Amino acid sequence: MPPDPTRFAIDPALQRYPRMAGDLLQAWDAADALLLEHMGGLGLTTERIALLNDGFGALGCALAGLDLTSYSDSYVSSRAMALNSGGRLRPVGSLDELTGPFDLAVLRIPKNLAFFEDQLCHLSQLLAPGAAVVCAFMVKHQARGSFELLDRLIGPTRTSLAHKKARLIFAELTRSPTPSPYPQDVPLDGFAHPFVHHSNLFSREKLDIGTRFLLANLPRGDFPCVLDLGCGDGALGIAARLQSPASQVVFADESWMALCSAQASHARYFPDEPRCVWTHCYEGQAPESVDLVLCNPPFHQGHTVGEAVARQMFADAHRALRPGGRMRVVANAHLGYPSVLRRSFGRCRVVATNRKFQVLEVTR
Ligand SMILES: C[S@@+](CC[C@H](N)C(=O)[O-])C[C@H]1O[C@@H](n2cnc3c(N)ncnc32)[C@H](O)[C@@H]1O
Repeated sequence: MPPDPTRFAIDPALQRYPRMAGDLLQAWDAADALLLEHMGGLGLTTERIALLNDGFGALGCALAGLDLTSYSDSYVSSRAMALNSGGRLRPVGSLDELTGPFDLAVLRIPKNLAFFEDQLCHLSQLLAPGAAVVCAFMVKHQARGSFELLDRLIGPTRTSLAHKKARLIFAELTRSPTPSPYPQDVPLDGFAHPFVHHSNLFSREKLDIGTRFLLANLPRGDFPCVLDLGCGDGALGIAARLQSPASQVVFADESWMALCSAQASHARYFPDEPRCVWTHCYEGQAPESVDLVLCNPPFHQGHTVGEAVARQMFADAHRALRPGGRMRVVANAHLGYPSVLRRSFGRCRVVATNRKFQVLEVTR
């Protein structure tokens, strides 16, 4: 195939997920465009390609027709890819599902460096010797240390010129395969056994201070079914079950690694399997099926900061709770969550407050 920088084009009809009325945010950026221009210039034919961290499918859809395996830890991204490609793109959710050898790896650099390191370790074992690695990023999101990781785990790096505030980094595999140091065992204050932390986990190295405050303010009582919504490592659900061992715990998160961490950590405490749900908030789950929701909501989705995910979590929790069921939320005190919660639940009680956080309780 002769090199042609215009060969792979972004479909302007691509949409983000979840699709929201009036959402003007684009489903691709200049780094996707720069990467596709570079790919067109390679004259690719039958090469096996690993594509990691495609945001909403801009890369996967444009590269359709090549021998491509896409990987994403994110349910939201994976769902966007499936919708934008009419069901053709079905990314794998675990790094262990990537099977080499690959001739080329194409990555959007994630903002979490530990996650990038984990991916490069896997690639160092999956790429054919000398295979090329091409990484794209927006300059404003560049994680410090990404060049050093590429150099150490793949090989010496070169960069493109910046174009529309996007850049590429290139490397070829010359280093020996490196086993990934993740997941790791992490002791958490107040818990008898260490937790299992995968690389793309919220507060990977220690207990988050918001989580800590909610742990100190868990409700007493027996709750047959506890939903840990946006579970991360599952510390909230595990602590609730330690108080009330007959409970069943449901872990929900849009990060596959979060669910793997919660499931493996739960196994350190209890012999049975928890229910794990990989979804956006609590989308698509049975109504009136849980008795207690515990939630430390996120304040961003990828690089997009905002309250939209928290609001959706509250709406989904309202639907999932049985009448009389309760939700406890920890949130930064400056956020207006009490009024958001009051709109769907009526009364919102402030259970505890400190200089930074509030623990809020609502009843269905
Ligand atoms: C602030 S962290 C809390 C994690 C954990 N519950 C804790 O307290 O340590 C928020 C969690 O929400 C998850 N999350 C972000 N967006 C989400 C979405 N759209 N649907 C479900 N979970 C999401 C993140 O992956 C993260 O694990």
